[in-house]
Amino acid sequence: MPQLLHLDSSADLNNSVSRAVTAHFSDVWHEQSPDHSVIHRDLHRDPLPHLPTSAMHWAPHLRTPDEVVAPDAEALQKTLIDEVVSADVVVIGAPMYNWSVPSTLKAWIDYVHVPGVTVPFDGPTRPLEGKPVVVVSSRGNEYGAGTPDFGTDHAVPLLQQVLGTALGMDLFVVLVDLTLSTRVPGMAPLVPRSRDSLDAAWVAVADLAARLG
Ligand SMILES: Cc1cc2nc3c(=O)[nH]c(=O)nc-3n(C[C@H](O)[C@H](O)[C@H](O)COP(=O)(O)O)c2cc1C
Repeated sequence: MPQLLHLDSSADLNNSVSRAVTAHFSDVWHEQSPDHSVIHRDLHRDPLPHLPTSAMHWAPHLRTPDEVVAPDAEALQKTLIDEVVSADVVVIGAPMYNWSVPSTLKAWIDYVHVPGVTVPFDGPTRPLEGKPVVVVSSRGNEYGAGTPDFGTDHAVPLLQQVLGTALGMDLFVVLVDLTLSTRVPGMAPLVPRSRDSLDAAWVAVADLAARLG
């Protein structure tokens, strides 16, 4: 039974672009066949606590004797790791917040990126290797080559580093640029390009959901 793990992190529950695009991915995935199932984790509605201790960055056998983890925190970490390991495909809504990702999504990353469990440290542990992950990065501005803010996107590079380089996942990035053009008067001339970007993202996630499903 193919399973999708669908994560959202936008704090906008009414007009979020990333939520709309990840929902479209999820819908197309679900349409592939009745046995395609979806687990939806909303990291904004149901936020994870920050890591209660740095000991949780390490596999239990790599912790020092004074590093103690409470059983409930250990159980939550295991649930989150099991959820992503058992998924066939992952889709992540990752709006740009202050040139990076929402802290709610960063908290999830801190739980699942664990040397000795999900990344190799003293052995070849890499259970997420090759698993497809689709990141939907919605941003108010634009950051492509040749734009004034090129080089200041710290959201996509962070996700590429953690999900792709460290965890070894097969990463697909879908960008939606200039989402603030409908809100910021000075950006009004950019509305058509913003629409084009959203249209392209809509098509891209539908293609990916069908292909990865
Ligand atoms: C807390 C916060 C910080 C933001 N920081 C940035 C930023 O650094 N750069 C940017 O281009 N847009 C920024 N924005 C705009 C969002 O990236 C944009 O509204 C995007 O569409 C949010 O995704 P969503 O529509 O899924 O909520 C910020 C928005 C919020 C709420």
